[in-house]
Amino acid sequence: MPELKQLLAAAEQAMHQAYAPYSQFQVGAAVLDNQGQVYAGCNVENSAYPIGCCAEQAAVAAMILGGGRSIVDIVIVAEKQNPCPPCGACRQVIAEHSDHNTHIHLVNKDGGVSSYQVADLLPQAFKLSH
Ligand code: THU
Repeated sequence: MPELKQLLAAAEQAMHQAYAPYSQFQVGAAVLDNQGQVYAGCNVENSAYPIGCCAEQAAVAAMILGGGRSIVDIVIVAEKQNPCPPCGACRQVIAEHSDHNTHIHLVNKDGGVSSYQVADLLPQAFKLSH
């Protein structure tokens, strides 16, 4: 998949912009949407810890702002720990804007990529249809 390389580069670039002074755990995510556009996001922490934002949620917010409505692929990468599986809240956010063709790609230690469908990571997701 040629776009995967592009997405990985976008996620890594975003990761380096992360604001993570509290955890020192920088995360980047990049989304390819249903219109072929790429949107990236990084985690943005806050001194009020719970209101920090995850990279995946930032990338999805950028997609929505840009007019994208459905995630085709999302790549997640962390500076210190790969693979970096999305947290539960991010799985729910991804599920909201995905379908059965959506794939979540995690980068492994050796640089290889493992790909999952949303239902693999969040079975029986609560969605708009409910
Ligand atoms: N983080 C993400 O950005 N995405 C995830 O799916 C897991 C965690 C961020 C949140 C926080 O800024 C840091 O990683 C450590 O938890």
